[in-house]
Amino acid sequence: MLDKLQKKWKVNGVQLALILCTFAIGGSLTGYIGRKLMPFFGIESKILWLVVYILLITIIWPMAVVVVSVFFGQYKFFSAYLKKMGLRMGLVKHPMVPPPVPAKKEEPMKSIAIMASGKGSNAQNIIDYFHSQTEKRIMVGLLISNNPMAGLNAIAEKEHIPLLSISKESFAGGKILVEYLKNYNIDLIVLAGFLLKVPASVIHFFPDKIINIHPALLPLHGGKGMYGHHVHEAVLNKKETQSGITIHYVDEAYDHGRFILQITCPVLETDTPELLAQRVKQLEHEHYPKTIEQLLQ
Ligand code: GRF
Repeated sequence: MLDKLQKKWKVNGVQLALILCTFAIGGSLTGYIGRKLMPFFGIESKILWLVVYILLITIIWPMAVVVVSVFFGQYKFFSAYLKKMGLRMGLVKHPMVPPPVPAKKEEPMKSIAIMASGKGSNAQNIIDYFHSQTEKRIMVGLLISNNPMAGLNAIAEKEHIPLLSISKESFAGGKILVEYLKNYNIDLIVLAGFLLKVPASVIHFFPDKIINIHPALLPLHGGKGMYGHHVHEAVLNKKETQSGITIHYVDEAYDHGRFILQITCPVLETDTPELLAQRVKQLEHEHYPKTIEQLLQ
């Protein structure tokens, strides 16, 4: 159970303990403040008292945990956590950041868009790869994220690359996405840990121009729900002797389109999902930028 939380929140053991302490103390503080404030309302009816009390602690709780989190050094985690909850409950609106006017592409410069929902190590690696080239023929012209908490948001700021932050609903419509990709003259759309299904309308609009990387040897261990540690756990559970990466075109099914490249690596008996993930990630970082480059040549 604690292991699962650690993985879900991507924290180490110490941080998890501090987070749980924050929840516990924040919760107790909320109850305490709530009870102290209730007499000021002078409510007689028991039911009304309960309703007001629940409303009150719902308001106090986020403030209490944020205050306590500062003392436990977990402010960053809790501000992101509350923002995520707010988004899920529809209390906070998804920030749809309109990117600035696209930079003019100098011919024969090619431009790619990277879409990511998670940490963004592949996105950063692709950006670094094309930055480091003396002859600049390919640029990362647009970043697209459906998750305001994704690493891509910070990367966009740091690298000064326009970011389209799009909600799940707007993304599913496809129209906004097509509009941006057209406006930015995107030649190739690169999925790097993007968890939403690309709408059929977008796939039809950009035939053979959308690619994805999967951290296993497809068709094994792919499909809906197969992402991140789930993939590596499945590989280990099946006692596979090798794993690797698959770079493929995107079609209407998850992890299904035509293969472009597969590279293997061994699975060791001593592997944990984390160790295997590291080995596979190295392959991703080595081969994904080169494959993009070859496809655009
Ligand atoms: C990678 O393992 C990739 O194969 C998969 O999503 C992961 C993204 O990792 N599609 P990162 O966010 O780029 O580190």
